[in-house]
Amino acid sequence: MEPSRTVAAADPAFRADVLAGLAAPIPAVPARWLYDRRGSELFEAITDLPEYYLTRTERALLERHSPDVAQIVGKDDAVVEFGSGSSAKTPILLRAVEPSAYVPIDISGDFLRDSVDALAGQFPHLPIHPVEADFMHPITLPSAVSALPKLGFFPGSTIGNMVARTAVDLLRAMKDTLGVGAWLLIGMDRIKDTDMLIRAYDDAAGVTAEFNLNLLRRINAELDGTIPVDAFRHRAIWNDRMSRIEMHLEATDDVAFTVSGTPFSFRAGETIHTENSHKYGLRDARLLLRAAGWGLCQEWTDEADSFALILAEAEAPRFAP
Ligand code: TRP
Repeated sequence: MEPSRTVAAADPAFRADVLAGLAAPIPAVPARWLYDRRGSELFEAITDLPEYYLTRTERALLERHSPDVAQIVGKDDAVVEFGSGSSAKTPILLRAVEPSAYVPIDISGDFLRDSVDALAGQFPHLPIHPVEADFMHPITLPSAVSALPKLGFFPGSTIGNMVARTAVDLLRAMKDTLGVGAWLLIGMDRIKDTDMLIRAYDDAAGVTAEFNLNLLRRINAELDGTIPVDAFRHRAIWNDRMSRIEMHLEATDDVAFTVSGTPFSFRAGETIHTENSHKYGLRDARLLLRAAGWGLCQEWTDEADSFALILAEAEAPRFAP
């Protein structure tokens, strides 16, 4: 028996993405569908894994360098967090920068309420203006913060989950949202030893595998699927040409199943691509930011140079030779 789960009403966008994605020449399902309630819980568990150095390293960098950030950007800014999610790292930054306002932006109203509740308790005098929106598009910020200098915050190497073209679109949208002269504090994971990267995305306890396989369970539960989940296994692959970790679900046998009545078949060894996590070298990261109009201000890394915390400034357009 499967553990009991709350069956959500079928989301037409989920169905459309899965039916189109499974039928594509290179089967792939957009990563956003990994994050139902169970997926989000599993992801939280991933961030605590010994192999998953990212969260730990970024938190240490924030603890060490938030005072430097405050020194550069000054106090009394509005801190604008993109995809605030559970906002676990935000208090470290807020304590150092002492902002005049905090604007968490998230597409999920539930996550937004959680993060507001969590922070309101810790910062009782901080005005919080949540915005429920898709930050891939420019957003009009609440009028209460329009006159304040802005510090954008985008931790977690989430930028790495986008292909470069989409990442640049997002960074440009952030610049449009925050305005020229604004700051952006962004976390980016670095290129490193392949084994260390793969271990971070294929942990010994199997939590990341469960996170990935949860997509198939979700398809079965919400889209009336008959996928034999046991006939798939989690794979984390380093794609060197693309400079990214890829997560796939690989068929271990020839399988046939239906989703919402539509038949699909996979040969043993064929995969469903479910997530990318791009890694950036020092100059790659700078170029990505520059391509979207963000000038490098300061960058901090850990001893092993495994993760970078980067402060950038939104540049005014200017003539170039
Ligand atoms: N941005 C993080 C990363 O790429 C978070 C993340 C997204 C993640 N999808 C994931 C972590 C899948 C582990 C597995 O690492």
